[in-house]
Amino acid sequence: MTDFEKLAGENISSLIPYKPGKPLKELERELGISEAIKLASNENMMGVPEKAKQAVKEHLDEMNFYPLGDAFYLKKKLARMLNVSPDRLIFGTGSNEIIELLIRTFAKEGESVLSYFPSFSVYGIIAKAAGIECKWVPVKDDFYVDFDKIKEAMDESVRIVFLANPNNPTGTYISAEQLEDFIEYVDENTLIALDEAYVEYVDAPDFPNTFKLLEKYPNLISMRTFSKAYGLAGFRIGYAIGHEKCIDMLNRVRQPFNVNMVAQIAAEAALDDKDFLRSSIKNNREGKRYLYKEFERLGLKYVETQSNFILVNVGDGEEVFNKLLTEGVIVRFLGQALKEYVRVTIGTPEQNKIFIDKLSKVLEG
Ligand SMILES: Cc1ncc(COP(=O)(O)O)c(C=O)c1O
Repeated sequence: MTDFEKLAGENISSLIPYKPGKPLKELERELGISEAIKLASNENMMGVPEKAKQAVKEHLDEMNFYPLGDAFYLKKKLARMLNVSPDRLIFGTGSNEIIELLIRTFAKEGESVLSYFPSFSVYGIIAKAAGIECKWVPVKDDFYVDFDKIKEAMDESVRIVFLANPNNPTGTYISAEQLEDFIEYVDENTLIALDEAYVEYVDAPDFPNTFKLLEKYPNLISMRTFSKAYGLAGFRIGYAIGHEKCIDMLNRVRQPFNVNMVAQIAAEAALDDKDFLRSSIKNNREGKRYLYKEFERLGLKYVETQSNFILVNVGDGEEVFNKLLTEGVIVRFLGQALKEYVRVTIGTPEQNKIFIDKLSKVLEG
């Protein structure tokens, strides 16, 4: 028998694969119901922007062609909207691919990347597969980043520091002052990758102005996505803004046709759908307020969020997660490090209400 574990090597065979949530249709089939709700993956519950749907339909007959290798039109449009040169943008199959490109381009076997814990597990999975250590620095008790500890952990081997801002799964954020202080501390040959997947939802007044920082610090790169506020998670498209020389290096490693054409067309149209973006952000703000109020009524502690999800302390996270499943509500249990919590994506008003009703029932029973 072929020894696949040996062939893959220790770095790969010891990896714990990323665990996606249960598909909604599966849960409905198991429970014999038709109205389960999934608030587990921080998707946009407002749906897909109408303009994106329309544009995709109009271009389906062109899908016998390869996509534009550099997302030419999308890049031009986004560059204009962000007021940056197109040379400073790169697109990926989700911002996940940008994380992978950064690690493959700028870190070598034996070197390391660093992030804080708990944060987005994908940094560690991608690094490990490439033979690169991911140093995880614990957050403070209030889930905010401990920059003193991060500074202590920075050594010669660290090539990239991944800072999710706002963070997943906590919803916490790094302020402008904290971030700039840290960038000033870091050697210019160490990259700081800001993972800003949820940036559109932010309302904290002291959140960093990334564009100002990008002008000042060439070792800074910002990763963003169309998966969240833009409602295009299934299309898989994200991007990064960085120094043009940094982007040039990433482009050398990128597969020539990495972002499919349907995704490029949907993203271009979504940029025009300002109403959709505005209503997504408004829905999130109102849903956040409603959920905070309901958690307080139920006597549950939660972490204030800058994102489209909330980490809430329910006592026994795994038990509540499993009981909610049987009630047709999928949330996320995040493992032993956050064993008292579940993470819930902010949904539509109806979904939020169903979640609260079921949560109350589960906690009472
Ligand atoms: C912090 C963070 N970064 C990146 C991503 C990945 O987004 P994408 O869909 O663009 O790959 C997610 C997705 O949940 C996330 O939470």
